[in-house]
Amino acid sequence: MAAATRVLARNWRGSYTVPAAGLYPHQWSWDSAFIAIGLRHISPRRAQQELDTIFSAQWADGRLPQIVFNPRLDVHYSPGAAFWRSERIPGSPPVPTSGLIQPPNHALAVLLVHQADPEASARRRFLPRAYERLLAWHGYLADRRTDPSGLVHVLHPWESGMDNSPYWDAPLAAIGETFRGDIPRPDLDHADASHRPSNAEYGKYLYLAARYRDHDCDDRDAGYPFVLEDPAVNALYARSEWALGRIAELLGNDPAPHADRAHALTEALETLWAPELGCYVARDVVSGELQPYRTVSGLAPLLIPDLPHTDELLTMLESEHFGLGQAALVPSHDLTAPTFDSSRYWRGPSWFNTAWLIAEALHERGFHDEARSLASQMADLGLEHDFPEYVDPISGEPRGTLRFSWTAALSLDLYE
Ligand code: DGY
Repeated sequence: MAAATRVLARNWRGSYTVPAAGLYPHQWSWDSAFIAIGLRHISPRRAQQELDTIFSAQWADGRLPQIVFNPRLDVHYSPGAAFWRSERIPGSPPVPTSGLIQPPNHALAVLLVHQADPEASARRRFLPRAYERLLAWHGYLADRRTDPSGLVHVLHPWESGMDNSPYWDAPLAAIGETFRGDIPRPDLDHADASHRPSNAEYGKYLYLAARYRDHDCDDRDAGYPFVLEDPAVNALYARSEWALGRIAELLGNDPAPHADRAHALTEALETLWAPELGCYVARDVVSGELQPYRTVSGLAPLLIPDLPHTDELLTMLESEHFGLGQAALVPSHDLTAPTFDSSRYWRGPSWFNTAWLIAEALHERGFHDEARSLASQMADLGLEHDFPEYVDPISGEPRGTLRFSWTAALSLDLYE
């Protein structure tokens, strides 16, 4: 507990927490929500502030940006504020941000932070303020990012939070173009190149980011080549709609529209079910093709209360593909797949945020022993290796960077 608290104190920047000093020197959207979930045990006020800070960077259209930049550290991260130049885009906030988004886990975090100390929340009027921001955020997703299928899409691998997932291989390969400018990789000063996405992937990442930016991030670029429906993004969105319904109720508002939306998302997720793989997969909206890979994203719908394929997902979790109880935590990709890589970012390593989500889901479904054993693995691996960003699922060895904020925060959450 003391060690995790120290990591969070060290990464605190006065009103938000950086994911890791060095590799990620700014505020990241979904990181902050996960960090707040842990911070609520140390200081509910700091947890509220973490979320308030990301909310204060909300765009006029309701989007919560992927990254809020600290301009003083711009040379240390790429692409940064100078790449995005968000200040010239109508509707951007007064602080420099990325134009992209990240998965919508914020309502889930707001509810947990509020419940940690309802009095502290009431004193600072946290919940009504957060509710307005969340309504606008979910409104943006509903209005600007929802497909005829009823699912929301991501417009960049970064928006999924799982940058180099095998889901994106074919859609990225189908894009003929790559970024023509210099591709700085300051990330490689802080993490081994074999743990990070490749230069070829970065060429595509920057090509897409530049194209999105050059259309003023307005989501209306006909022919934009990367439009993907991701299971974890939609599962978190559905889960957050449930949380938003609860928040509405606490504030005396009608929860029904949120429950309806959650139900509609759950139903729409069925279009991503791959019976032959026994899990959900992503769909490339451009080609119409499902992306036939088992990833932890495809297990994330376990978070939704009324899911039809719960038993199949539990079987999958325990199979040789994900090795629950044998592997370290939950691998990000199928252990038996030719595309599996035990070290490289989201192509195999086990992450603590997804382990936390799966532990939550197991706990809620009454699998208390399994949830507890996952939680204690998280706590042990976190402590033993100084809170790594991710671990090799076979050896349990640390990968990426160390003293990673959500690793510390979510291990803290599990001591409770
Ligand atoms: C990175 O820089 O690797 C992040 O994942 C992008 O959000």
